[in-house]
Amino acid sequence: AKVQEHEFVVQATPVKRLCNTQMSITVNGQFPGPTLEVNNGDTLVVKVTNKARYNVTIHWHGIRQIRTGWADGPEFVTQCPIRPGESYTYRFTIQGQEGTLWWHAHSSWLRATVYGALIIHPKQGDSYPFTKPKRETPILLGEWWDANPIDVIRQATQTGAAPNISDAYTINGQPGDLYKCSSKGTTIVPIDSGETNLIRVINAALNQPLFFTIANHKLTVVGADASYVKPFTTNVLMLGPGQTTDVLINGDQPPSRYYIAGRAYQSAQNAPFDNTTTTAILEYKSSPCPAKGGANIKPIAPTLPNYNDTNTVTSFSKSFRSLREVEVPTEIDEDLFFTIGLGLNSCPSNFNANQCQGPNGTRFTSSMNNVSFVLPSNFSILQAHKLGVQGVFTTDFPAKPPVKFDYTGNVSRSLWQPIQGTKVTKLKFGSRVQIVLQDTSIVTPENHPIHLHGYDFYIVAEGFGNFNPKKDASKFNLVDPPMRNTVAVPANGWAVIRFVADNPGVWIMHCHLDVHIGWGLATVFLVEDGEGLLESIESPPEDLPLC
Ligand code: C2O
Repeated sequence: AKVQEHEFVVQATPVKRLCNTQMSITVNGQFPGPTLEVNNGDTLVVKVTNKARYNVTIHWHGIRQIRTGWADGPEFVTQCPIRPGESYTYRFTIQGQEGTLWWHAHSSWLRATVYGALIIHPKQGDSYPFTKPKRETPILLGEWWDANPIDVIRQATQTGAAPNISDAYTINGQPGDLYKCSSKGTTIVPIDSGETNLIRVINAALNQPLFFTIANHKLTVVGADASYVKPFTTNVLMLGPGQTTDVLINGDQPPSRYYIAGRAYQSAQNAPFDNTTTTAILEYKSSPCPAKGGANIKPIAPTLPNYNDTNTVTSFSKSFRSLREVEVPTEIDEDLFFTIGLGLNSCPSNFNANQCQGPNGTRFTSSMNNVSFVLPSNFSILQAHKLGVQGVFTTDFPAKPPVKFDYTGNVSRSLWQPIQGTKVTKLKFGSRVQIVLQDTSIVTPENHPIHLHGYDFYIVAEGFGNFNPKKDASKFNLVDPPMRNTVAVPANGWAVIRFVADNPGVWIMHCHLDVHIGWGLATVFLVEDGEGLLESIESPPEDLPLC
């Protein structure tokens, strides 16, 4: 195993998209940021220097961070932010993970432009559990605003309204040739007749679940969230923000140019969304030769599902089965039931009307078990925990919602207003945990991509309506459930996840729609140290930023 060192300089860089140039926050002047490629077992050492005018942290999305919670990155959870002019070095080892992950800023809305792929190859000498592809191509789906994303969210926070939706979806930072002023930058993905290309799809969009397809080409899914799955073929993928999916495609179509396309899956009823399509082009190298005018050949158009095609999403997500032997806990020590959903807060009386632009003069909020999560500001929770600092958080996050109700609708108004707090759930080292994640349908049913830091979990079941412990437990897959770090919980439905709390530290679980994080759709697990040194978190690095 190697030790790989990298330098990330976070800085403002001019980026031209959709006919305008904007000063965007980037890493090393690149948008999207650099792709990191490692082998399973390698150690990554990334020195991040902040030359921008915002506080920043970097999160290594999906990396287990076993005993290295100080390198996880969410601001005020495992570290204080890196202030302008300062640096912090993230150091961690990849242990037993293979496939596609990514990294992104974990501070306000900076991840709109601060993100990149993190590709984990098998250990040197090991091979993929499928035919070795001739090429590999990362595809990062994203969103672009014709404005500074930090200003977009600040303005929304000040008014209590929902933030403006993005102006384009992107593939590898480019809207693609169906958008104005965008044909020049459109991403070209090469393929040759007869060859296999491993496409590593990452949904890095801030707030939008996305469909993904390639015209006329079958997609063979082989992995997701850096875990292998039993291969299955499909015409279309759906990824919630945070999720990754690895697919093989074969160059088995007549040589030509084919659209690679992404478009919205509308996750919430009546929520505004953009119905445009982002594109890249799959180009056969053999013929027609692009140099001889082939670049003018109109790409073959794809078929994408309707924005509200939940049936396609459901059958896609039910196709995932773990390839490798699983160790899903069959007994449970911690039986948790978390409701997830939106809410509305009444406007404080000292606010004027244009500061309360939510429905009927309210402000948007969201919660788990009716607790809207508030990040601390003087300490990170991990620092407070290790130093024994009182008053930063409380350990009274409820294991169940305060009242049981019909989560599919007709919710009494009294349940629309969550309480606020920095409440965490303490877990004993090694405890076997089950969490039922239930969408509440308050304000609107919505597909929430719930992401857990520090762990992969098994998705043992998902369904619609109210979770019914008696009926639904019989449908649990304890044989070959997929292992993931982000689950797209069905709108008007539920998902059940299981994991063993064998990684000590402080781990946030949140909706990966960034607009919902700001509204409080998050909670934190504090996993206590176990008995030996190897069951304890390492001591903090000397350059750990202070608040
Ligand atoms: Cu990819 Cu806490 O996030």
